[in-house]
Amino acid sequence: MATPLWKNATIYQIYPRSFCDSNGDGIGDIPGIISKLDYVASLGVKIIWLSPVYQSPLDDLGYDISDYYKIHPDYGTMEDFDRLVKEADKRGLKIVMDLVVNHTSDEHHWFKESKKIDSPFRDYYYWRKGKEPNGKRPPNNWTSMFTGPAWEYDKETDEWYLHLYSKKQPDLNFHNPKVIEEVENILRFYLDKGVYGFRCDVINQIFKESLEDGKGKSQQARGIEHYLMKEGNHRILRKLYDDIFSKQECVVIGETYNVDIENGYRFLTNHEMDMFFQFEAMAVDQSPSRVFARRFHPEEMKDILYKWQQSVPWNANYLENHDQRRSITRFGDEKTYWKESGKALALFNLTLSGTPFVYQGEEIGMIDKPIGEPEDSLDVAARMVNKIMKKFHLPHFMRKKVCNRLDRDHARTPMQWNGGPNAGFSNGKDTWIKVNPRFLERTNVEKEEADETSILSFYRRLIKERENRGAIHDGKFIPIRTKGPIIAFIRENENEKYLTLINLSKKKAKIPESACMGASDLVLSTYEEKELKGLAYLRPYEGLLLKIG
Ligand code: GLC
Ligand code: CA
Repeated sequence: MATPLWKNATIYQIYPRSFCDSNGDGIGDIPGIISKLDYVASLGVKIIWLSPVYQSPLDDLGYDISDYYKIHPDYGTMEDFDRLVKEADKRGLKIVMDLVVNHTSDEHHWFKESKKIDSPFRDYYYWRKGKEPNGKRPPNNWTSMFTGPAWEYDKETDEWYLHLYSKKQPDLNFHNPKVIEEVENILRFYLDKGVYGFRCDVINQIFKESLEDGKGKSQQARGIEHYLMKEGNHRILRKLYDDIFSKQECVVIGETYNVDIENGYRFLTNHEMDMFFQFEAMAVDQSPSRVFARRFHPEEMKDILYKWQQSVPWNANYLENHDQRRSITRFGDEKTYWKESGKALALFNLTLSGTPFVYQGEEIGMIDKPIGEPEDSLDVAARMVNKIMKKFHLPHFMRKKVCNRLDRDHARTPMQWNGGPNAGFSNGKDTWIKVNPRFLERTNVEKEEADETSILSFYRRLIKERENRGAIHDGKFIPIRTKGPIIAFIRENENEKYLTLINLSKKKAKIPESACMGASDLVLSTYEEKELKGLAYLRPYEGLLLKIG
């Protein structure tokens, strides 16, 4: 059987609200995306993952869907969407949709109907009586993934509904076969439109096995042991595969919060999905509670990624997405080695085994925005965290620090197309979220395109090399164990062998003996060297892709 496209392809994630505004209202939209398809294709990527464009009150900026069969007017119409699929196809690009079905919006008609106690939709959600003696306490002690109680009281019926995210995101009840049927209808609807697959939002939490109290006291995700990767979850995903995905060529990507190796392995080998995002590597610069910052050590990242590389049959590799802060800010150097570290991270992400994901702006080295006031965040999660910290009387400076660290606005500032007004994102007066003023002048597509040594140019070469060299996109992964900041691994198939060497630190580092074996040709260098000049040291953030033998 031919290798499926998703194994060779690099996937580019578009956050529609912030990609390109075509009509000057300050909000990115589908016609804007269409106008930039040539740019996207020029990167060499073959698949676009589109964050949600469905009808939504936008409490969680589209991850709260009120109609799965409509496009939000901010983004355009269903005709625009169809045109996007067609225009993408002309350029050899496939579209992957975001499937958000753990919850709907509270403005979805299913939920509105479900508020009546005898409605056929009541059982689409988790409606429960409060705890005794008087039902004025939530049915259990669970807390939301965004902090605070996971239940909201409804006066009308004197019952509560479950929401693992904001209270405007009620959880669907996957014990109800009707809900699964609805999901299958949505899948068919978009597959019939020519969509290539789905990135499935928080898909490892959809099945609540029991509603018993959770352990511990955490203000975030208490109760998770009752719904993370339960048997029913595996069963449902396998059913979707049998009923739908097995019937055509497509890709299923799971967003699997805190997935472990055992479940990850099972997701893949049991045909529940084609790949999934692990979260472990994203915790390397966070305290165990995930509240505070922790110093980044490349060694740790290396250990985690090597483990995943060797434990599951296929990986979905990423350093950024719309929920994460910018990778250069976290793992590289925004100032002195901006360019070098941007390229070094790219080389790391794109030469691992698995499918690489590149998030809009990552390819031009976008970095975090300035720190703001927690109240001003446009991210519902950051605001909820601030609220709970306020409730516990934490001082302002601390709230500001914590919220900044997890503020998803960092990844959501407009794509920077040029150095002009609104960074070329919009010709309107205002943009829905402020353009990131930090280093705007050096960080934009126009500037990057004019420079052969830019981060963008490096991405383009790297994506091409990855696609053209079999061992890099589907060869075996062989780690070379090194101490210190140097990352070294081999990719190998029957015909060829490559070595990735990266110094992920600000200090010059000696290349360990074990990592110097028989490199003959230099394929790519983050310092833009043209030939190999011996291998003794790597300069700060120097990265090399070498051919062996
Ligand atoms: C996923 C999305 C995130 C959203 C959450 C709830 O983690 O990536 O943006 O807030 O699910 O849908
Ligand atoms: Ca617009």
